[in-house]
Amino acid sequence: MTANTPADATAATPAGPEIALDARHITRRYGAVVALADASMQLRRGEVMGLVGDNGAGKSTFLKILSGAVVADGGSIAVDGKPVTFRRPSDALEAGIETVYQDLALVDTMSAVQNVYLGREDLSSNPFLRLLNVVNDRGMRKRSREVLAELGVGIQSVNVSVKGMSGGQRQCLAIARALLWGRRIVILDEPTAALGVRESAQVLDLIGRLRDHGVSVILVSHNMQQLVTVADRITVMRLGRTIATRNVADVTPEIVVGLITGALPADVDTPEDSAAVVA
Ligand SMILES: Nc1ncnc2c1ncn2[C@@H]1O[C@H](COP(=O)(O)OP(=O)(O)OP(=O)(O)O)[C@@H](O)[C@H]1O
Ligand SMILES: [Mg+2]
Repeated sequence: MTANTPADATAATPAGPEIALDARHITRRYGAVVALADASMQLRRGEVMGLVGDNGAGKSTFLKILSGAVVADGGSIAVDGKPVTFRRPSDALEAGIETVYQDLALVDTMSAVQNVYLGREDLSSNPFLRLLNVVNDRGMRKRSREVLAELGVGIQSVNVSVKGMSGGQRQCLAIARALLWGRRIVILDEPTAALGVRESAQVLDLIGRLRDHGVSVILVSHNMQQLVTVADRITVMRLGRTIATRNVADVTPEIVVGLITGALPADVDTPEDSAAVVA
């Protein structure tokens, strides 16, 4: 820290300037089912946060709310200290949050570069061509190649269709898309669930590189070993609640499992007896 560090102009922000995403007391019901009873997370800039919990603990619901795919019933979200309301996925994208779903939403018959630009093709810089909606093909290819090279993604040509790509390459491509669009927060729901050992390693490596670029990552995984390798902190969910957050350096996979199952106590009060389903 240098002596001439400027006074912290954002000190008034309760969460502090280093918090990229601040979600508090998010709730969501589906009829009688409480999918989320009380979920909170303070995601720091440039950190990888693992999100863990048993099947049905509410991880995907929480992430869907943070990516605008599902609207919360209650709670608050702030991005870089500014309160936001997400009604649809484009609201979250605009706030700088990119979500990579497991099925990836890549189009098989399109090339890597087309997928990276899917739905948001870069219009040619020529104003007349812009009027005609002509896309800047050469510019898109160049920028795609740059980002993929920067991330060390080994794709032979950005022009070939993604149909022949491995699961790992596809996942990497989807993550590259997030970086290309300048997203500051990337959400990954079980990105390595369907991948082999080598491909998983490649995706984990890429997640590390996103962090090097100052991107904050939320990563759902059931693989404890993987999480303690790649994450900085881990948030544990149980029955729709975020019940503990730990520095990875302070835990073992066994401790995390204990928190997930309830063998170890939660950090917050959890009315465990009021089960996930209410009358
Ligand atoms: N659209 C929906 N309609 C009804 N119930 C839902 C819906 N989505 C989720 N739920 C319920 O909410 C709870 C949390 O589900 P969620 O998918 O968020 O869990 P998860 O932690 O992602 O689980 P997994 O590890 O199996 O992916 C579950 O009880 C689930 O059945
Ligand atoms: Mg899930």
